[in-house]
Order: sequence, then structure tokens, then C-alpha cells
Amino acid sequence: MADLEDVQTVDLMSELLRRLKCSQKPDKRLIFIGPPGSGKGTQSPIVKDEFCLCHLSTGDMLRAAVASKTPLGLKAKEAMDKGALVTDELVVGIIDEAMNKPKCQKGFILDGFPRTVAQAEKLDEMLKKRGTGIDKVLNFAIDDSVLEERITGRWIHPSSGRSYHTKFAPPKTPGVDDITGEPLIQRKDDNAEVLRSRLAAFHTQTEPVIEYYAKKAVLTNIHAEKAPQDVTSEVQKALS
Ligand code: AP5
Repeated sequence: MADLEDVQTVDLMSELLRRLKCSQKPDKRLIFIGPPGSGKGTQSPIVKDEFCLCHLSTGDMLRAAVASKTPLGLKAKEAMDKGALVTDELVVGIIDEAMNKPKCQKGFILDGFPRTVAQAEKLDEMLKKRGTGIDKVLNFAIDDSVLEERITGRWIHPSSGRSYHTKFAPPKTPGVDDITGEPLIQRKDDNAEVLRSRLAAFHTQTEPVIEYYAKKAVLTNIHAEKAPQDVTSEVQKALS
């Protein structure tokens, strides 16, 4: 933990103001669902900041495990490289653990989870034990034909999860993160061939999850093919 004497007063004040603002926000437990490239990871940080939630992306957590070669990462790598889903058991475990973190106190955005009906059922069990449930599921609906250009043009800043696009959201300097000046990278599975497998997995295994939440009357469809700012407005309207 940082020694408070070393922290600038202005930083302490802004953190206090942030916490005060957060204490007045309602708790929210959200799921963002949609195919690869539909904009879940682009919209999540905006909603996270606005409602003081934690952003739990199973894809980001799995990539971090792969990069640090943990036992979980070693198990997940092969499926991820092929664009297939990793086992339900692996992802359910990481979400259950992540939800206990203090940053999830006001709620969470689940980005890329649940992706199978079995994961959705496990999530229901997990939340029931905590005496809570899901408030809203946003379905980032979009035609497959738009996604290849979005995926192949994407560049990410691994440590923050910030995402750029060569055409739709270019960084100020090509290949460099706007905030930290660190280099951007392309994901190994962000190519046209692996995208086909990822889309196939989405249509067969994840679309039934959309139906699962529609039946529970917590689903809102978002027109994810619109420009990023227009998608943000729709998301904000759905959550207000
Ligand atoms: P994951 O990391 O979750 O990938 P994904 O679901 O394929 O989603 P993406 O991150 O590719 O898309 P996104 O919707 O976040 O798009 P973004 O906002 O960046 O999963 C990866 C792998 O991990 C899976 O294949 C699987 O193996 C494994 N995995 C993860 N979770 C799992 C689970 N629960 N169970 C089992 N396996 C699991 O946008 C894309 C690009 O488009 C960006 O460049 C962005 O700048 C741009 N863009 C965004 N919005 C717009 C817009 N409105 N207009 C124009 N451009 C836009």
C-alpha cells in the first residue's frame, strides 16, 4: 500500500471527490454481450467510470494468465489461439474470485462472460449466494460483415486495456498509447482466419445466452454498428 505522505495533496483530493461521487451512484450489475469487435471493450471503460463499477473482461484476464504462463494460462492458450472457447470451469472460477475484489463493491460489468448457457447458470448460482442478481444485459447487436475490418484494424494497450483502431479510433501517434506513450500491440487472435472461428463460437454457443436473458426480461439491444459516440449515447440511455 502507498504511504499517504508520499501522495500529492491534489491526487488525494481528487480520489476523495471520486469516492464521494461514487457513494451517490446506484449499484449496478451488468453484462455486455456481443460478437468479437462489437464494441464491448470500447464502451466498458466509459460505463465503468461513470458508475464506479469494476470491468471484468474474461478475455483480458485470460490473456494476462497466458502472458505470465500461469497454470490457468497454459490450459487456456490452445483454445484461445484457435478462436475456440476455453472450458466453462476455468472462466467461472476466475469470475467468482474477481467479484470479491473491493473495486467491485458498487457492482460490475461482465465483458465476454457468460458465453455459454452453462456459464450463465453458474453465474446465477454465484449471485444467488451473494444475495444479488443481474440488473441489465446489453446485447451489442451487429452484422458479421462489419467485424473483420474492426478486428484487423484494432491495436491495444495491454496494461490498461485501452483499445484503438487504425481507421475508427486512431491513437495520436501511430502505434503508441495516448496516455502513457507505451507501445500498442495487436492481439494474436485478431486476424481474419481466427475471427471466423470466434464468430462461429459466438453464433452456436453464445447466442443462446442472449435468449436466456431475454426470457428473464433484463435484455436491451444496442445498435452496435453505429459510430462509437452514438453507441455510447444508446448505452447511457439504456442504463439511465
Ligand atoms: P475476448 O477478449 O472476450 O474477445 P471477444 O469477445 O472476441 O471480443 P473482442 O475483445 O474481440 O471485441 P470487443 O467487443 O471488446 O471489441 P472492441 O470494443 O475492442 O475473448 C478472447 C478469447 O478468450 C475467446 O475467443 C475465448 O477463447 C476466450 N474467452 C474469453 N471469455 C471466455 C468465456 N467466458 N468462456 C470461454 N472462453 C472465453 O472493438 C473492436 C475494434 O473496433 C476496436 O479497434 C475499436 O476501436 C473499434 N470499434 C469499437 N466500437 C466501434 C464503433 N462503434 N465503430 C467503429 N469502430 C469501433
